[in-house]
Amino acid sequence: MNTHLKIGLVGFGCVGSGLYEVLNKSGLLGATIKTIVVKHPEKKRSLPKEAFSYEVKDILDDPEINVVVELINDSVAAYELVKRAFKAGKHVVSANKKLIAEHLDELLALATENQVSFLYEGAVAGSIPIIRNLEEYYNNDSLTSVEGITNGTTNYILTQSNFGVDYASALAQAQELGFAEADPTLDVDGFDSKFKLVLLIKHAFGLSVEPNQLHNIGIRRITEKEIAYATEKGFRIKLLSRAEKIGQEVCGFVAPHFVDRTHPAFEVNNEFNAVIVQGLFSDRQLFLGKGAGSYPTASAVLSDISALKFDYRYEYRKSDAGKNLQLSEQFYLNVYIGTPHAVTLEEAGFEEVYESFRSRDYAYKTGLISFEKLAALQTNAREDLAVIVLPGALQKPELVVAESANVEFNTH
Ligand SMILES: NC(=O)c1ccc[n+]([C@@H]2O[C@H](COP(=O)([O-])OP(=O)(O)OC[C@H]3O[C@@H](n4cnc5c(N)ncnc54)[C@H](OP(=O)(O)O)[C@@H]3O)[C@@H](O)[C@H]2O)c1
Repeated sequence: MNTHLKIGLVGFGCVGSGLYEVLNKSGLLGATIKTIVVKHPEKKRSLPKEAFSYEVKDILDDPEINVVVELINDSVAAYELVKRAFKAGKHVVSANKKLIAEHLDELLALATENQVSFLYEGAVAGSIPIIRNLEEYYNNDSLTSVEGITNGTTNYILTQSNFGVDYASALAQAQELGFAEADPTLDVDGFDSKFKLVLLIKHAFGLSVEPNQLHNIGIRRITEKEIAYATEKGFRIKLLSRAEKIGQEVCGFVAPHFVDRTHPAFEVNNEFNAVIVQGLFSDRQLFLGKGAGSYPTASAVLSDISALKFDYRYEYRKSDAGKNLQLSEQFYLNVYIGTPHAVTLEEAGFEEVYESFRSRDYAYKTGLISFEKLAALQTNAREDLAVIVLPGALQKPELVVAESANVEFNTH
């Protein structure tokens, strides 16, 4: 794009105000913010009142503005705004993972129809440049897995828990520090990590999935018993967004995991995020950085703005390969399930039990379970089950059957 980028910025909260400062400090030439739209006129701000408008049409109807940077905290309003921006022929940069995960294919079609770009590096893992890397660097189908800590709030809470702080106090600390929302449900129940996983799967494997096709297990039910188990075994607990390509299937889910020292996420603490990419030839690679916050997220948004100067758009080159893939819940994994009610462990349907413990007020089992059975437990909706995935690869049913056949053979 040879023309000057004239930006209409919608939202001047944590990320929007950060972008304003970062853009001014960066010395990025040929990009200026012309209009800033916010919602509440009465709010105190770092810039004078005259710097703001309260009507998005001041951006959408301005022919001089060629880029809309959408940084609002309302995914429904953002959905309408982004569609109107595309129809008005404006490029859009957004960091709104919920909006994008829920509407990506529709928004892409609209962007393509109007010949504009839609960039959203800030929507996944804050400052970590993962979307463009998956697009450009891993521009072939040799990736076998992508997983990561993609939510800073839960990583902060879990880090504190791993160091002995109870869940409620760790959540309160995260809220005080501005990492966690007053209603932390989207974070602690794994929805936010799932929105990001939808985008990772799209860019890693070319497969379109909807958030409600992926199962998410959160961290709310983790107690001091699980922390003690982790400490005893030398594990730490991390909420991972995880997708593995096995044959023509992609197995994807969000769940807390026990990770051992050999796992690249072991030392990723507090508000830091990490994405681990595994390729057939490149082997395992780790991307590490701040996953949230004003400047770190604004830096990713700025990078998108700068990319627009070179007419950059995601090409979704893996989409053709993605058409041959399908999302699958047909796999087995090793898990720990803890509960105050031992009898509920019988319901879980373990294929094989490795460890079983029962005291007066707590019980747990570890073992192999089918993901479908695990998902059917609906753990986010219940008070009494803590589910944590144990180290180990996901296994396809064929392998599990073959292995149990071997065990039977050996015992006779
Ligand atoms: N915070 C992070 O670390 C982070 C990290 C990655 C991605 N994100 C994403 O970035 C986006 C912005 O997050 P944030 O933390 O900066 O939010 P925030 O601090 O809550 O600020 C939201 C801003 O949006 C404005 N707004 C809300 N509804 C609007 C509407 N209908 N029209 C115009 N303006 C509206 C608000 O206006 P008022 O000021 O008038 O209330 C406020 O300025 C979200 O999609 C979030 O998921 C945030």
